[in-house]
Amino acid sequence: MRKLTLISVATLISTIPTLSAAETTAGANDEARALIQQYASSLKGELVSAINAGGPTNAVAVCKEKVPAIDNSLSESSEWEISRTSLKTRNPDNAPDDWEKQVLEDFEARKAAGNPVSGMSYAEVVETDGKETYRYMMAIPTEPVCLTCHGSDLDPELVEVIDAEYPEDQARGYSAGDIRGAFTLSKPL
Ligand code: HEC
Repeated sequence: MRKLTLISVATLISTIPTLSAAETTAGANDEARALIQQYASSLKGELVSAINAGGPTNAVAVCKEKVPAIDNSLSESSEWEISRTSLKTRNPDNAPDDWEKQVLEDFEARKAAGNPVSGMSYAEVVETDGKETYRYMMAIPTEPVCLTCHGSDLDPELVEVIDAEYPEDQARGYSAGDIRGAFTLSKPL
């Protein structure tokens, strides 16, 4: 168990997404990518400390409490709304809207066509009620360490905790290399 924890920490630190080539609206894309890096490192920092403090079972409760706080503080300190979404969510609050669902399905198609998941992104200016919003998503690859809580072979004690905290959990059964979800960002233009 102790050894597993140490390996997990090393893997987590090495899995902060690498940023790749720009597409459209370079300035906004750069901002979005910088925020994602900050967001990903905060999330991983919390996960690492929580796992070290009390194992994955403890980390579930910490995720539930800390992730929304990180989302809010980043959204408050920038013009962007930032969160995570997925086609199969653990927390139903993270369910995708129609635009996000389409982008996630497109990411799956791009992966199926042989494109690497790491750095996969999509940006678009979306108009709703006459107002323009810049929207950006970046795929989140499933790393081996994520399988502790999102894989197929979960520890029964952990399953109990997840079932209690997230009765609608769909975020299991992933394999390393799958698209676990995406970072999703938007800002008014
Ligand atoms: C200690 C268990 C644990 C580990 C390890 C873990 N997660 Fe999660 N994950 C959770 C919990 C709990 C939630 C629900 C958080 C919330 O309430 O928003 C979650 C939610 C998510 C979400 C948001 C979408 C959803 O399903 O609600 C993404 C994306 C995600 N995890 C990706 C990852 C990735 C990528 C890794 C590996 C780097 C990882 N997770 C490792 C427990 C874990």
